[in-house]
Amino acid sequence: MEVKVWRGDATGRFESFEVPRQPSQTVLDVVTHIQRHLDPTLSYRFACRVGMCGSCAMTVNGTPRWTCRTHVDKVAAAGRLEIAPLANLPVVKDLVADMREFFDKWARAKGQLTPTRTRADEFAVVDPGSPARREADAGIECIGCGVCYAACDVVKWNRDYLGPAALNRAWTLVNDARDGGQSARLHAVAGDAGCHSCHTMMSCTEHCPKHLSPTRSIAGLKRATWSLPPEGEKP
Ligand code: SF4
Ligand code: SF4
Ligand code: FES
Repeated sequence: MEVKVWRGDATGRFESFEVPRQPSQTVLDVVTHIQRHLDPTLSYRFACRVGMCGSCAMTVNGTPRWTCRTHVDKVAAAGRLEIAPLANLPVVKDLVADMREFFDKWARAKGQLTPTRTRADEFAVVDPGSPARREADAGIECIGCGVCYAACDVVKWNRDYLGPAALNRAWTLVNDARDGGQSARLHAVAGDAGCHSCHTMMSCTEHCPKHLSPTRSIAGLKRATWSLPPEGEKP
């Protein structure tokens, strides 16, 4: 099979390789074959190979995907395979995207727990059937792969937009009964670069390999921030 692979930085170009087909071959297997047998200078990123770490995401035939769980048979039925780094992010080299702005936006969206207890306190008891816990459960399995971010047109138009993954993370914490940072978080996601910029086109939800719905989480944030009082005032 002929495989076209992006080489260099953002000003680079595609390079072609001949790769032998194998049964149950994944796109990550193809990239690994090229790096191990054809060109050891090819840069790419992966860790777990089983869909847990989120580090292997790339653009495959124009679509963002996790490559370790994407079978060649599924995406290259016409015998064509073109692999590039994730879109909407700077390119470090070859298939490696620079994820810093992606994770910086998690921090901007206050995507970290603000604890209200110390390790000396009893464990918090959270009812697994409560509406808030179920909302948090719906988004908690995000692996931070960046596929949704690469699929989002609003990120493409407005690089300041926090994006679906950071906003999904914020929504899981808004629904976390143990968290004490809600006012700051809601203000962080309510600005021009926040949830109200989402156009609800659902590309993120369509492409998420974990079948999460950032669109739904963002809708929850829109409701929660609709009548937000000025920062510092009690809601
Ligand atoms: S639904 Fe919103 S966050 Fe998701 S891809 Fe569309 S604009 Fe981006
Ligand atoms: S929401 Fe889905 S696509 Fe987006 S980073 Fe998390 S796991 Fe990846
Ligand atoms: S290598 Fe970990 S998710 Fe693909």
